[in-house]
Amino acid sequence: MAQVRTEQTKFLLSESELPRRWYNIRADMPSPPQPVLHPGTGEPVGPDDLAPLFPMELILQEVSEDPEVAIPEEILDIYSLWRPTPLFRAHRLENAIGTRSRIFYKYEGVSPPGSHKPNTAVAQAYYNAKEGRTRLATETGAGQWGSALAFACTLFQLECKVYMVKISYEQKPFRRSLIQAWGAEIVASPSEETQVGRAILEEHPDSPGSLGIAISEAVEDAAQREDTAYSLGSVLNHVLLHQTVIGQEALAQMEQAGAFPDVVIGCVGGGSNFAGLAFPFLREKIAGRDIDVLACEPAACPTLTRGLFAYDFGDTSKLTPLVPMHTLGHDFIPEPIHAGGLRYHGVAPLISQLVRDELIRAEAYLQTDVFGSAVEFARHEGIIPAPEAAHAIHGAVLTARAADEAGEERTILFNLSGHGHFDMAAYDNYFAGKLEDVALDEAEIQRALAAIEGLPTPA
Ligand SMILES: Cc1ncc(COP(=O)(O)O)c(C=O)c1O
Repeated sequence: MAQVRTEQTKFLLSESELPRRWYNIRADMPSPPQPVLHPGTGEPVGPDDLAPLFPMELILQEVSEDPEVAIPEEILDIYSLWRPTPLFRAHRLENAIGTRSRIFYKYEGVSPPGSHKPNTAVAQAYYNAKEGRTRLATETGAGQWGSALAFACTLFQLECKVYMVKISYEQKPFRRSLIQAWGAEIVASPSEETQVGRAILEEHPDSPGSLGIAISEAVEDAAQREDTAYSLGSVLNHVLLHQTVIGQEALAQMEQAGAFPDVVIGCVGGGSNFAGLAFPFLREKIAGRDIDVLACEPAACPTLTRGLFAYDFGDTSKLTPLVPMHTLGHDFIPEPIHAGGLRYHGVAPLISQLVRDELIRAEAYLQTDVFGSAVEFARHEGIIPAPEAAHAIHGAVLTARAADEAGEERTILFNLSGHGHFDMAAYDNYFAGKLEDVALDEAEIQRALAAIEGLPTPA
């Protein structure tokens, strides 16, 4: 018989404790992020350049240096459908791996689409609807973002068009169904519906797609229609801002638990869930507290650990402005690993700058190791994690093991950014021994990085 435990497992906040402001880390960063540049002129991009693609309120949030932005009541009202989300102490995982460290996780999988993504989807749909747009176009990798935006759009009676990376479209048919259930239109990317898609299909008819390609298609769609704005699920400053409700809640919940993390961990695709948890803790770190902040990425798409900090396009077809970020090059197409949401060649500029300033460190993991930790977690904590979120679990397990080996006891907090109920085909492949680890060789990285030669260099 297992011993009966007396310490609490779940830390919950009431609806009245939902954060009423988003936290803007730009106000506290030791080095300000470098400007996004217009590729034609090389000059910083201004609000007017972005107006065809985004509503003005989001553009102002993108460049805001105010430390906090008030969350409109209409958004809080929708957040209250699933927020505040629970924080758990992973007692059973701790026992299973025999660690002396304490492991906590913030669980974002309780939202209707099953991830952190609606924290920004709802905000973006709200501001677009308020400024008179009637249709949004977007890309999606694993389908989490597409389903979150479809959910948000239906609440504000907006039309929604989703370009879904082809490999995920094929691997995750039920995410597709979810997007359709919430009333959005969906197509596999590269598609025949845009110039960009047709050109790629002509050259590579079997292209598995990538986030970079799907972004190009969605941007082209939005740029060509008056009624349509573009919506991005990660990377941009305003997206990371909206996610900071996660970390603000976690700060209050850790206090409830009578603990403070020595290590804060998240997985990084474009960086939004990681930023959402980590930025409110980085505010404490910048103010002098000692916290190790760890970003976890796939070895098949090692943007932070092996990419360059450089100006690069956010998409494959060079339709976006030039963004100062860690990048593997805009035409890098990652292997079709199962964490589809982590297959992006770049990362958020705010995170890149904080990595450069050594406030954040990064590690890259192989997918079979990640799935090993995901299954261990599921067998003890019960929740089936999304493959993306499993990178953070793996990071937490490795951190606990390293602490044990060093004879230390640490308090570890990670973000469980979503559940994996629509990712069971990936688990089936893992159990069947069919999951391949991709060793990305240096020659391929160098080939892909050649695409950014000649672009401006950050200071
Ligand atoms: C559950 C989950 N976690 C993480 C990510 C990675 O995105 P980001 O780095 O923006 O959080 C995704 C992307 O689709 C996701 O679905």
